[in-house]
Parts: sequence; structure tokens; C-alpha cells
Amino acid sequence: MPTTLITGANRGIGFEFARQYAAAGWRVIATCRDPSRPSSLSALGGAVEIRTLDVTAPSSILSLSSELAQQPIDLLIANAGVMSAPPRSAPLDISEEAWMADFRVNAMGSIRVAAAFAPQIAASRERKLVAISSLLGSIGSNAMGGHYAYRASKAALNALWRSFAVDHPELIAVSLSPGLLRTDMTRYEQAWDQLNDPAPRVTALRGVIDRLGQSDSGTAFNFNGDKMPW
Ligand SMILES: NC(=O)c1ccc[n+]([C@@H]2O[C@H](COP(=O)([O-])OP(=O)(O)OC[C@H]3O[C@@H](n4cnc5c(N)ncnc54)[C@H](OP(=O)(O)O)[C@@H]3O)[C@@H](O)[C@H]2O)c1
Repeated sequence: MPTTLITGANRGIGFEFARQYAAAGWRVIATCRDPSRPSSLSALGGAVEIRTLDVTAPSSILSLSSELAQQPIDLLIANAGVMSAPPRSAPLDISEEAWMADFRVNAMGSIRVAAAFAPQIAASRERKLVAISSLLGSIGSNAMGGHYAYRASKAALNALWRSFAVDHPELIAVSLSPGLLRTDMTRYEQAWDQLNDPAPRVTALRGVIDRLGQSDSGTAFNFNGDKMPW
């Protein structure tokens, strides 16, 4: 039975990954900041273990990594993310706290989790690490402006993931863009009700992940499998 570890698995896209991998017969290590808070995770069937992981707390990351030291992890999904400022905020209107929160969670948090769990991933059969990035992190695709802090943090995430792929040729590390989906993060969208549901999109993303090979490492992909420009 392959194993996946997912960050931010208690809601949104992370929850949907947990639900689908569990239904597909995977062992799912579903991590979240506070497992005592109610979430739909506890109602999932299958081999789901709910564990504590705050990606901004190195002690939390290291503690879980050491508890799972002997357990191969086939697929790490670095999904936890925040968008701390309203999308159209001007740079001077974004608080220091909001700038830093996006970087702490989206960029630093993700790469620290990758580094901490690299040995368990290297010991697995699949050896894959996926960063849930965003088209907003693609500089080449930016035609709309805005989203200053979030865009920068996701572009940083892509740069970090690429470095990690270069430094770890034994692993397959890619960035994935899920596209715009109806989750708590996108509640600022006026037509939020009409946004795509995460379920079919996560199915598509699972297909992309399934097809990844060694030569894909260090690349960023869109949910449809196309390469995403940096
Ligand atoms: N929705 C979209 O359209 C979209 C588009 C492109 C990319 N993405 C990316 O997809 C990922 C998931 O987003 P979503 O739409 O599912 O958002 P969401 O519903 O707001 O969920 C965000 C998840 O991240 C977790 N999280 C936040 N800070 C954390 C921390 N310090 N440690 C651990 N977990 C933390 C949250 O946990 P709590 O419940 O504890 O806050 C929650 O589980 C993010 O990386 C996001 O940037 C989303």
C-alpha cells in the first residue's frame, strides 16, 4: 500500500487529496495544524492517520519527521498555503505580517517539510514530492497584476522546489498549479459559487502525479499536464 503525506489536509484541496487517495487504497498521513478542531477528516474511511503539523514551526516538522523516521513516504503533497492580503492590495497597503505570513507558509514552510521528509521519500517506491503552487506564481503567465505577496511567495516556492530537485536527483520534485477552485481561500471571488469544485480537479492532478517520471523533476505543471512557464 503506497503512502502519501499531505500538509493542510483538514479542508479545501488538501482534504480532497486525502479523501481521494484514501478511497484509492493509499495510506494517508493527513496532517493539519490542530487535529482537535472539527474537520471532515475524521469521517474518512480507509487508512487515514491524522497527525499534527504546522509548517511554520520547525519543531513541529522535525518532531513528526522523527516519529515517522522508519516509514517510507511515496508522495509528499506540500499543500498548506495562505493568501494573507486581499488580491488587489497595493504593495504599500500589505502589512509586514501579511507579507511574511505568505512567505512563511507557502515558501519556507513547504521547503522545510520537503527537506525534513526527504529520507522517508527516498526510501519509498514512488519518491515524489509535489508542491501545490499556483499559476499566480508563474512570472511568465502574469498578465493581470495584483496578488503581490501571494504571487511572490509562490514564485519563491517554485524556485525553492527547483533547487531541491537539483540537489536531490534521487527524488522527483515538481510544482503543480491546481487552477482556480472553490475553497475558503478564494472566497474573495465575486462568482465564488460558480468556481470549479476541487474534486474533479484533484482527480486530474492525481493523474498528472501518477504519470510523473524522473525526467520531470524540477518542472512546474498545470493541472492539465501542460508545463507551466516560470
Ligand atoms: N483554491 C484555489 O483556487 C487555489 C489556486 C491555486 C493554488 N492554490 C493553493 O492550493 C493550496 C490549498 O489551498 P486551498 O484553496 O485548499 O485553501 P484553504 O481551503 O484555505 O486551505 C488551506 C489549508 O492550508 C492550511 N494551512 C495554513 N497555514 C498552515 C500552517 N502554518 N501549517 C499547516 N497548514 C496550514 C490550512 O489549515 P487551517 O485550517 O489550520 O488554517 C488549510 O488546511 C494552497 O497552497 C493554495 O495556495 C489554491
